[in-house]
Amino acid sequence: MEQMPYRPEMDTVMLPPTTTATTTPEVVQSDWRHQLPTLAGQQVVLRELRTSDAASLFAMLTTEEVARFISPPPTTVEGFERFIAWTLRQRTAGTYACFAVTLRGYDTAIGIFQVRELEPGFSTAEWGFAVGSPFWGTGVFQEGAELVLEFIFETLGTHRLEARAAIKNGRGTGALRKVGAVQEGILRKSFLRDGRYLDQALYAILEDDYRTSRQAANTSRTLVYAPHIH
Ligand SMILES: CC(C)(COP(=O)(O)OP(=O)(O)OC[C@H]1O[C@@H](n2cnc3c(N)ncnc32)[C@H](O)[C@@H]1OP(=O)(O)O)[C@@H](O)C(=O)NCCC(=O)NCCS
Repeated sequence: MEQMPYRPEMDTVMLPPTTTATTTPEVVQSDWRHQLPTLAGQQVVLRELRTSDAASLFAMLTTEEVARFISPPPTTVEGFERFIAWTLRQRTAGTYACFAVTLRGYDTAIGIFQVRELEPGFSTAEWGFAVGSPFWGTGVFQEGAELVLEFIFETLGTHRLEARAAIKNGRGTGALRKVGAVQEGILRKSFLRDGRYLDQALYAILEDDYRTSRQAANTSRTLVYAPHIH
């Protein structure tokens, strides 16, 4: 999602009580609201964010090349600490999840994957991601995306996953396409960045498409509900 749902002013807003217990399909009734699972791949481990990730995320995600096509990230380490606290509250409320991207054997957060519900129970959801530029083109994004897509389609029970990407964001749109997202339309002048409205493309992955491509790739990954994978 080009527009991260986090806004600093939301820090002081009380979240409405979650109604998902009565409206969500059974597949969503896992303990992810209590703690996100740790998702382990060959080189990438996705895990819950911690306050101590603030400094590395500040270093990784506030550079010009990373931030120029996404909503302005927090501008201080303290701002990232507030963002992380907000992500944990949203996860507890059951409306949003944010994973830290780390490399196996290292615990440093080098990026994030986010997903939020667009409809109650995540049947339609939106995702977004950002990775520090030293790790671009290394396969970190692709493996992290495969892990988070499995969480989204298998654990959250999403049937339609949307993403919005500025058309000028060649890496962002290229990244979406390579994990199977299909461009469905253009959202003209839908994203305000640095005082200018940018056109975005709307991409989506359908659950059926996800399952078909996964079968074809014959991949199988393990969701590990264990916080200490490193
Ligand atoms: C989006 C992001 C996580 C992708 O990670 P990445 O490591 O750069 O992605 P990859 O290199 O695996 O894939 C990007 C694809 O776009 C292609 N690409 C790169 N620059 C491109 C450009 N200018 N135009 C078109 N395609 C481009 C790459 O070649 C690559 O495809 P390939 O592997 O088939 O060659 C990372 O670039 C990032 O954090 N960007 C800043 C944050 C951001 O824009 N997030 C929102 C995305 S909607």
